[in-house]
Amino acid sequence: MMNKKMNKKYYDSFGGDTTVVLKEVGADNFEEIVGLKRESVRFVGSPEYVLAEAYIYRSDSTAYGIYSGDEPVGLAVIRDRPEDGYPYSFTGLFIADGHQKKGLGQAAVEAILAKLRADGLRDEVEIQVHEKNEPALKIYRRCGFEEVRRAGWNPEFLVMRAKIK
Ligand SMILES: CC(C)(COP(=O)(O)OP(=O)(O)OC[C@H]1O[C@@H](n2cnc3c(N)ncnc32)[C@H](O)[C@@H]1OP(=O)(O)O)[C@@H](O)C(=O)NCCC(=O)NCCS
Repeated sequence: MMNKKMNKKYYDSFGGDTTVVLKEVGADNFEEIVGLKRESVRFVGSPEYVLAEAYIYRSDSTAYGIYSGDEPVGLAVIRDRPEDGYPYSFTGLFIADGHQKKGLGQAAVEAILAKLRADGLRDEVEIQVHEKNEPALKIYRRCGFEEVRRAGWNPEFLVMRAKIK
C-alpha cells in the first residue's frame, strides 16, 4: 500500500499539538465526508452544500476532508490552483459536531497554510469570515491573517489575508 507521505493527496499538518491530515475528497472517501454531522449550518453550509460548491468551482478548487488520524472530522474547499491575478483562498471550512473545541479547527487551518506554502504558487491566502464568528476569527488571527477590507457583497464579512512566504 502506498505510504501516506508518498501520496500527494495527503497533507500532514506541520504545526500545533494536534495533527490533522488533509485528504482530497474522491470516490474512496465521499460517503464518510458527506455524512459528517452538523446540527447547525451557521456560517457554512451542510457537507452536501460545501461539496456542491467545490464541484461548481472545480476549475480552480479542491475539496479536502480533514482527518484526525484516520477519523474524518471536517471539510474545506481550497482554491489551490488560482487563476492568474487571484490569491490562494479557502471556503466552507467546518469541524463536525462532537469534534469541535479540541484544537482541530486551528490545526486544520495550519495544515491548509502548510499545504499552500509547500505548493508555492502564491505568497498570500485570502479568506472571508463573518465579524461575529469568534472561534474562526481567533484561529485566523493566530495564524497571521489580518483584515484588509470589508466584503463588497456583505459588509458583515471581513476579508482577511495571511502571508505564507
Ligand atoms: C470555526 C471552527 C472550524 C473552529 O473549529 P474548532 O475545532 O472548534 O476550533 P478549535 O478547537 O481550534 O478552537 C479555536 C478557538 O475557538 C474557541 N472556540 C471554538 N468553538 C467555540 C465556541 N462554540 N464558542 C466559543 N469559543 C469557541 C476555542 O476555545 C479556541 O480558543 P482557545 O484556544 O482560546 O480556547 C468550528 O467552530 C466550525 O466548524 N464552525 C462552523 C463553521 C464555520 O464557522 N467555519 C469557519 C468559516 S470562516
